[in-house]
Amino acid sequence: MIQFLHVTKTYEENWKALSDVTFRIRKGDFIFLTGHSGAGKSTILKLIYMDERPDTERGGQVMIHFPRGAAYDSKNTPEKEIQAYRRQMGIVFQDFKLLADRDVFENVALALRITGTPAKEINAKVFEALALVGVSQKRFAMPYTLSGGEQQRVAIARAMVHNPYLLLADEPTGNLDPENAAEVFNIFKEINARGTTVVMATHNPDFYLDSPFRRLSMSHGTLLNRDIL
Ligand SMILES: Nc1ncnc2c1ncn2[C@@H]1O[C@H](COP(=O)(O)OP(=O)(O)OP(=O)(O)O)[C@@H](O)[C@H]1O
Ligand SMILES: [Mg+2]
Repeated sequence: MIQFLHVTKTYEENWKALSDVTFRIRKGDFIFLTGHSGAGKSTILKLIYMDERPDTERGGQVMIHFPRGAAYDSKNTPEKEIQAYRRQMGIVFQDFKLLADRDVFENVALALRITGTPAKEINAKVFEALALVGVSQKRFAMPYTLSGGEQQRVAIARAMVHNPYLLLADEPTGNLDPENAAEVFNIFKEINARGTTVVMATHNPDFYLDSPFRRLSMSHGTLLNRDIL
């Protein structure tokens, strides 16, 4: 589903964030993205959701194939297609990024409203997504009244409401206490068990040590494990 081929990413000031990174992620995988601060984890996720592109000169290629046949390639996906591209995935961040002036229901419903989904369908999908993460009872609450764990669960519901093929998470438990972190991780595992491919950047060894899931281990912009093709 996701293929990085010799990807090199240099930010301004000649700072090489990624160097010759090659890997493949298959449909249905659960993948941990690990490594020290600055290793390049967020950069890999940004390249997947095309917030960044590989270097134009010898930067390699990022290719994404979705099950219904749509394919995207960092070399030839125009900027105007990126919004439609991102609608096929869900993205979760460390700091939740909920809209402060809308309640839980509207935060989760927004993506569906933008694409013109009928109101009845929106209701059903939002309820299903909130039930999946266990915060249905908070549907009329404003984000500032929620705990961190609840806010992150709402953010996961928002990411899952359109039933994406792919869920990306950038240190989703970084701001949570151990109990909430474990709960959020369990939700990701449940989402993966239902068929969604999950890529999760994390600093938490409790999750990835002794886990059956594969790990992309980054250090200073390079991939340490080369067996992930
Ligand atoms: N927009 C940018 N401009 C310049 N340099 C950047 C930019 N974004 C990231 N970098 C640099 O690229 C390197 C990789 O950053 P990245 O954010 O991918 O690391 P990370 O593994 O996600 O780290 P952390 O665990 O702290 O989130 C770092 O050295 C960072 O300073
Ligand atoms: Mg990061």
